[in-house]
Amino acid sequence: MGDEQVQEFELKADSELRFVAGEESEVCLELVQGYAEIFGTELVLNKKYIFPPKSRVAVFTWKEAKVELVGATESPYVAEATPMIIYLNIHAAMEQARKKKEEQAINTTVKPRGPKLLLVGPTDVGKSTLSRILCNYSVRQGRTPLFVDLDVGQNNISAPGTMAAVLIKNTADVVDGFEGDQPLVFNFGYTSPGDNLSLYEKLLNELASTVNSQIQYNDEAKIGGMIINTCGWVDGEGFKCLVKAASAFEVDVVIVLDHERLYSDLSKELPEFVRLTHVPKSGGVEQRTSQMRAKVRGENVHRYFYGTRSNNLFPFTFDLKFEEVALCKVGTEELPDSCLPFGVEVENHELKVIVMEPSIDHRHHIFAFSRSSAPDETILTMPVFGFCLITDYKNEDESSGSADSSRAVNDNWLSESTL
Ligand SMILES: Nc1ncnc2c1ncn2[C@@H]1O[C@H](COP(=O)(O)OP(=O)(O)O)[C@@H](O)[C@H]1O
Ligand SMILES: [Mg+2]
Repeated sequence: MGDEQVQEFELKADSELRFVAGEESEVCLELVQGYAEIFGTELVLNKKYIFPPKSRVAVFTWKEAKVELVGATESPYVAEATPMIIYLNIHAAMEQARKKKEEQAINTTVKPRGPKLLLVGPTDVGKSTLSRILCNYSVRQGRTPLFVDLDVGQNNISAPGTMAAVLIKNTADVVDGFEGDQPLVFNFGYTSPGDNLSLYEKLLNELASTVNSQIQYNDEAKIGGMIINTCGWVDGEGFKCLVKAASAFEVDVVIVLDHERLYSDLSKELPEFVRLTHVPKSGGVEQRTSQMRAKVRGENVHRYFYGTRSNNLFPFTFDLKFEEVALCKVGTEELPDSCLPFGVEVENHELKVIVMEPSIDHRHHIFAFSRSSAPDETILTMPVFGFCLITDYKNEDESSGSADSSRAVNDNWLSESTL
């Protein structure tokens, strides 16, 4: 970074420094005095944190802090009004609920279950950020919460187009966020629940029942509770998806970020025992266009295969023979009633598993490796090992296709993701 500009900021208690790293330049951040955190992860004094271009960051302090920025940033400023105290109170309420459950269970053999919290709101209100903050605060409290991300458009755990859950044992990396730890991933294959509502609902129920049963075997995870992030689609069918998520996960608390009508609609729809709270969004949250969101998805696919600056991954290419795999796709066109013989019941076309002939059209498509052992409807309810990208297709004598893959790969059935 050499002789680039150095900027110093003094932060008073409860204020935050907001900045966006330049279009093409990294920014180095250092806490030179006091205490500060980024989205719930504490900064280490005098450690240099390098943020990639275009990162959007808020450095918050509960006490006082002095921070230094080196590199080009877009109009950094200190904001004194933040909703952080409200967010901290949500955390405090979660911890209180855990303690109460522990006290109630003290003379019983049943292990107590922590609170389950669902975060809802339109796009760009800071849902993902708040889930990260709450997960971090829980870890700093000595808990291990389960982070569930139902946002198939901007998933924070796995590749875009998935729904996933991961046990949070450490605070998020300041730059990279939550990385590592084997997540449980279901492949939806589209970027909006509306592209296949039946499949979305099916996977939602599957993910909920899998995590609900798995936490029975892990006392720490069970009391840690759940923090569930959702899509920003809050109208019509999107609203119904939120209500279904609340019911599938049997949540205790629903936090509505920013959107008052959504709060009011949910208050009519949710059962009485669910605590519904409305909280404001932070003034620092970025508004993104759908093109920007699509770009972030592309970056996240890249990140899945190549990792980050501090955690490099090296994808490898290998040949797969056509007879070694079955390429499947979920969902097909609806058959008009007139095409069906009399008395035959209509199958749900959205949940039909189709085995596809390998084709050159699959080049540059991402496929998930399903844990299912047969190319049939079992792939609907099975998590995936990981993803590959079909880079080439050869229909010569040796008939082989070529796939690129990092992370877990298994000789198994592939299901398509139409990203
Ligand atoms: N307080 C803040 N100051 C500056 N940027 C923020 C702040 N909170 C969130 N952001 C940024 O705003 C963007 C959108 O936030 P995000 O949590 O992804 O919203 P949502 O999940 O509701 O779409 C992210 O890039 C995030 O880093
Ligand atoms: Mg989000």
